[in-house]
Amino acid sequence: MSYETITVEKRGKVAVLTINRPDKLNSLNQSVHAEGVAALDDLRKDDSIRVVVITGKGEKAFIAGADISEFAGQTPVTQRNLFNERTFFNSLDTFPKPIIAMINGFCLGGGNELALACDIRIASENARFGQPEINLGIMPGGGGTQRLTRLIGEGRAMELILTGDLIDAETALRYGLLTQVHPLAELEEKTMAFAEKLAEKAPVALQLCKEAVKFASRSNLDEGLRREVDLFAIVFSTEDKTEGVSAFLEKRKPEFHGR
Ligand code: COA
Repeated sequence: MSYETITVEKRGKVAVLTINRPDKLNSLNQSVHAEGVAALDDLRKDDSIRVVVITGKGEKAFIAGADISEFAGQTPVTQRNLFNERTFFNSLDTFPKPIIAMINGFCLGGGNELALACDIRIASENARFGQPEINLGIMPGGGGTQRLTRLIGEGRAMELILTGDLIDAETALRYGLLTQVHPLAELEEKTMAFAEKLAEKAPVALQLCKEAVKFASRSNLDEGLRREVDLFAIVFSTEDKTEGVSAFLEKRKPEFHGR
């Protein structure tokens, strides 16, 4: 498939989806949303792809937020419909395979919300994070108030959302928004090595682990524990479980096929 505002490169078991609007700091216009949804639909069905990495083109920005030039002409109703349609955010949220945000610069507004909808966030030292919507007289609308609060806690989320101030990568790491920070020159190599490590794990187990962990912030403890037991029973019935256990006992590397 060919796209105008994104690129998708399949590197073995890892797909790299790049927002390709560096002149506009990879801001999210309607075309990026539509193409992002289409690309994720394709990657969801492609059994050869086990992990997805999302990044922005260039060395300045991951994504500098929603494309502000598209705000003109939007009404409350068109905005509401836009967010209620299948957006890049909710396609990421329901995507079954692990998704890593490789954050290479400004990660603002809808860009930060997009990163929050991914499973793991790895950034370069020059990255900057924030929800600056307040400075435009608006508020986050792509899940920022909900996902950021669940991830880093109410006080820190409140401060970022009410001030619109940016934080650096070290602060974001300390807040738990990120799990890794690397020099920009090493970001791709380190992120790809991490993605390839995940890509060697059993695909069904990866998917069910992801589902269980995501459920933790959407349920109470009793519901979550019950869901975990059910998912554990499913994973226990897979061929990959038989292969994983046999490989351990035979002292060899397992070969998982996602069945
Ligand atoms: N929407 C549309 N265009 C954007 C954009 C956005 N969110 N962010 C950056 N751009 C465009 C700029 O208009 C500029 O385009 P131009 O060269 O045609 O004038 C280009 O990207 C480069 O950005 P510029 O502002 O010149 O870079 P900078 O280094 O001076 O500042 C930022 C970088 C990120 C601080 C600044 O671009 C910014 O504040 N962007 C908006 C962030 C934001 O509020 N996001 C939330 C939106 S709800």
